Amino acid sequence: MTTLPDDDPFAVLEDARVATVLRRLYSEANRQHLSIIGHFLPHALSYLRRRFIPFADSEMDGFYADKYIAIIEDQGAFAYLTARALRARTVVEFGTSFGLSTLWLAAAVRANGGGRVVTTEIVPAKARVARRNFEDAGLADLIDVREGNAIESLAADPSDIDFVLNDGFPMRALDIVRLLTPRIRPGGVVLTDDVGGLRGNFADYLAYMRDRANGFDSMSIPLKTGTEYSVRR
Ligand SMILES: C[S@@+](CC[C@H](N)C(=O)[O-])C[C@H]1O[C@@H](n2cnc3c(N)ncnc32)[C@H](O)[C@@H]1O
Repeated sequence: MTTLPDDDPFAVLEDARVATVLRRLYSEANRQHLSIIGHFLPHALSYLRRRFIPFADSEMDGFYADKYIAIIEDQGAFAYLTARALRARTVVEFGTSFGLSTLWLAAAVRANGGGRVVTTEIVPAKARVARRNFEDAGLADLIDVREGNAIESLAADPSDIDFVLNDGFPMRALDIVRLLTPRIRPGGVVLTDDVGGLRGNFADYLAYMRDRANGFDSMSIPLKTGTEYSVRR
């Protein structure tokens, strides 16, 4: 009888060095879950009712300054495979944090034959650690880390974007998509995390992405609390 293989999201990666770094970083990230749940507790009712949850911009270099708040392993593997299917050479990421998602994306770009991942982080200390993680994984040469507000650092380039991971704070998700849409190639994909759990915060974003007049075909897929998968028309 054939033994079924384990569902191991890291198995999609060809490069053992990248997988080793990612496993280490996820084990650190997953240790922060309790503290994040505790921080969220006052908003539990709003979360369950999918109402708007207020986030102050100041939380980015406050409570969240040392938090990974990374996409989960399955989302990473899905992003990797999507970037592979698109043969993505130009990838943009809103929200680097410590770079877990960036590593999945850069691994795909390298497997596609090369290109670059432009990633953006507003908290300098996070960008510093992310750069070290990219060196550790042997992927730094493919990654352009832009420190500062993504609205400014992505204002002019890149163009011919194949794939966008829209994973900064929810209040800015729509601004980023509006900024990048003219530069995303037809068939390019935008993936947006947490649109289910933070539905109240993403209401405008989802209404925009589901209106074809704005240039996308879009649906939520059941990864984590719900991940918006949008294809440029
Ligand atoms: C959810 S985390 C990103 C997680 C990362 N994509 C991963 O999966 O490992 C969001 C990050 O976006 C950053 N951020 C929020 N607003 C930003 C802005 N306007 N420009 C650049 N970075 C921003 C935050 O500091 C935070 O580190």
